[in-house]
Amino acid sequence: MNYNIAVVKGDGIGPEIVSEAMLVLDKVGEKFGHSFNFQEVLAGGCSIDKNGIPLTEETIEICKNADSVLLGAVGGPKWDEVPSEKRPEKALLGLRAALGLFVNLRPAQMHKALADACPIKPEIIGDGFDILVCRELTGDVYFGKHYRRESDKGWGETGADDMNYSVYEVERIGRRAFEMAMKRSKKVCSVDKANVLETSRVWRETMHRIKDEYPEVEYTDMYVDNCAMQLVRNPSQFDVIVTGNLFGDILSDEASMITGSIGMLPSASMNESGKGMYEPIHGSAPDIAGKGIANPIATILSCAMMLRYSFGLKAEADAIETAVENVLNAGHRTADIAAKGEKVLSTSEMGTLIREQL
Ligand code: NAD
Ligand code: IPM
Ligand code: MN
Repeated sequence: MNYNIAVVKGDGIGPEIVSEAMLVLDKVGEKFGHSFNFQEVLAGGCSIDKNGIPLTEETIEICKNADSVLLGAVGGPKWDEVPSEKRPEKALLGLRAALGLFVNLRPAQMHKALADACPIKPEIIGDGFDILVCRELTGDVYFGKHYRRESDKGWGETGADDMNYSVYEVERIGRRAFEMAMKRSKKVCSVDKANVLETSRVWRETMHRIKDEYPEVEYTDMYVDNCAMQLVRNPSQFDVIVTGNLFGDILSDEASMITGSIGMLPSASMNESGKGMYEPIHGSAPDIAGKGIANPIATILSCAMMLRYSFGLKAEADAIETAVENVLNAGHRTADIAAKGEKVLSTSEMGTLIREQL
């Protein structure tokens, strides 16, 4: 089969990690008889530099028309001072909105071989860590009105961001979370701040209404502050965590570290029709950009998610995941997951070893 993939390498380490992932897809194509056609487009800081804006209509159209989108990361200190409407991150949010990518799956799974890279004590981690953060991606305070006004207390200039969640938005992400849980350990923990926020009250009421559609799933609610603590205290209690855009952003970074490094965590962002954008959960890592030392595994595993969720290519997705597993089992490490004194691989050396396993 022929698949057309729009590729947004982006900024910072984006081009370094995405190049490795593209080579992995090429290898999978060769092995399984598919052809992955890549069309590279600009978004983020590199688009600001070339076009004056972070996201052009042309990029949106190409991403909409492609079978899938692969994205590295956007942003960096170079563009930190541009007006908020023109920031590189707006490109990411614009693509998520334009493609209607309301569900963001962020699986955090600790590979046994990386137990030493996990900062939690072995007796607490127990048998391992394998959760799925199901993050709502096109609503919440991210997509409310952002503005400045005069303080109503006479304190002068004030920043304001409107936070919204409709019943409809909670229902559709909630059902996705329950469906994912049915394929896993049948546990859903819905995370909110219903003791304070009206958006969270709508969230919780709605989740309580739809949970009865999935009687086999064990359902719990948790406040987000408690969840942040429980992830460290007893991470194995969780299976699927379903939560809003902002809480999901924060909790998934926290969960990633339990797996050893943020450089390990892939993600799939999908719309109603299964069309998706696939990207690591981390950012452009300006502190290590250009050095060739970033971990490409999160991006490579995001390609596995693309094959599985957008293209229905299960054997091909499994092949990538097994290749990564084998390389880790053989003791190969990039700097972020290496123990002191352990040999450290470059981004491209890690990519090459994974391809050799395919
Ligand atoms: P970051 O995720 O870029 O980096 C946080 C830390 O993790 C850094 O120390 C970095 O070196 C490390 N890290 C991240 N990815 C790594 C990898 N693959 N291998 C090894 N180490 C890795 O977060 P930040 O520093 O807060 O943000 C930097 C920029 O990225 C900002 O402009 C931010 O807005 C943007 N950002 C973009 C995305 C995205 O495009 N999806 C996501 C998060 C942040
Ligand atoms: C992520 C990032 C983005 C987010 C930023 C860059 C807009 O942190 O994909 O996790 O907050 O969603
Ligand atoms: Mn984030």
